[in-house]
Amino acid sequence: MFDPYKVREDFPILKRKINNHPLIYFDNAATSQKPRQVIDAIKEYYEQHNANVHRAVHTLSLEATELYEEAHGEVAKFIGARSMEEVVFVRGTTEAINLVAYSWGLKSLKQGDEVLVTLMEHHSNIVPWEILSKIKGFKVKYLDVNNDGTINHEAFKEALSPKVKIVCVTHVSNVTGVINDVKLLAKIAHENGALMLVDGAQSIPHIPVKVKDLDCDFLAFSGHKMLGPTGIGVLYGKREILEKMEPFHGGGEMIREVSFNPKTRKCTISWNDLPWKFEAGTPNICGGVGLMAAVKYLKTLGMENVKAHECTLTEYAMKRLKECEKTTVYGPQDSTIKCGIIPFNIEGFNSHDVALLLDSYGIMIRSGFHCAQPLHQKFKLSSSARASFYIYNTKEEIDSFIEALKEIEQSL
Ligand SMILES: Cc1ncc(COP(=O)(O)O)c(C=O)c1O
Repeated sequence: MFDPYKVREDFPILKRKINNHPLIYFDNAATSQKPRQVIDAIKEYYEQHNANVHRAVHTLSLEATELYEEAHGEVAKFIGARSMEEVVFVRGTTEAINLVAYSWGLKSLKQGDEVLVTLMEHHSNIVPWEILSKIKGFKVKYLDVNNDGTINHEAFKEALSPKVKIVCVTHVSNVTGVINDVKLLAKIAHENGALMLVDGAQSIPHIPVKVKDLDCDFLAFSGHKMLGPTGIGVLYGKREILEKMEPFHGGGEMIREVSFNPKTRKCTISWNDLPWKFEAGTPNICGGVGLMAAVKYLKTLGMENVKAHECTLTEYAMKRLKECEKTTVYGPQDSTIKCGIIPFNIEGFNSHDVALLLDSYGIMIRSGFHCAQPLHQKFKLSSSARASFYIYNTKEEIDSFIEALKEIEQSL
């Protein structure tokens, strides 16, 4: 049985008081809090096993290497990849998408081609493509979204043509929480000869995802949003595609051999096996160990339970928000098609002021554009406040949030 009150005991930070109120952490879409199991795994790594990986023959290096490789394997199982060779550790979603843009896009995209993104993308799924388009001359094409922030599948089909070489879509919007049917979008993209990149930053932490089921070509996500440490994230790629791609960064770890020819005075370089070909330099070993602990924690809870708990909270919050007369909630009003993310504004208040006022009640939310300015433009908003839930949040916390919102409404 999933019990959020028991889960809370694993999170030391939740015992804090902020401004004399118990901490209510509703900024989970930005980053999650960390359970003791993750903190302990990191501590134990540094206290017992710290060494560089894949380099030395001594005991500590072998232990660190084993842990680091095991972490890739655990992540591969968690997302249903065929093997750990399809799991590249990067700094986060942003770096994963940049990796695809440069390693795949630099070689594969040319003038006349198109990269299809949607208006609901996080800037990290827009800016790398815009930067590369300036170098390669292809077009970044923006698919409009419906007024509630959902995707129109007919419009998606119409936007595809042989010119589109890759479709880059977020699985879950970090503004509205809308869950996109990326399995269907991948099918349509493939029928039109395009690859499919899924930004899983907001889906992997919250809903069960299996890449074989989605049949996406790439999936990017961040460890810090799923209970893991910052500075570690994942690029999943289909093995046959990763094999054909050029490396992203050059340096140690990612090469098999660098052989100097004294006659030509040139080096011949061959690449390491997957996934190391894409992991140049000393990697974030302890980040990988922390991510493995996070994945094991989520597995123990069960991703179906995680999703169900967040659905319950979202439904409850959406219902209670109707009591706040000056508060407008954006995106779909149907909580069954979204994850636990709620964007809103209070009439007469700037979103940053709302966030600051809520802070005085010990409630942490996000305010601003949430790195998704085009979607805010679509909604004709200068900014929004955003509450986002996770495994340790409770209905009682939502009650306190609603009471605080009512008081803020009345303070004007
Ligand atoms: C949908 C989405 N994509 C990408 C990112 C970027 O993630 P990171 O900053 O961990 O690279 C975020 C972070 O908020 C996000 O919500």
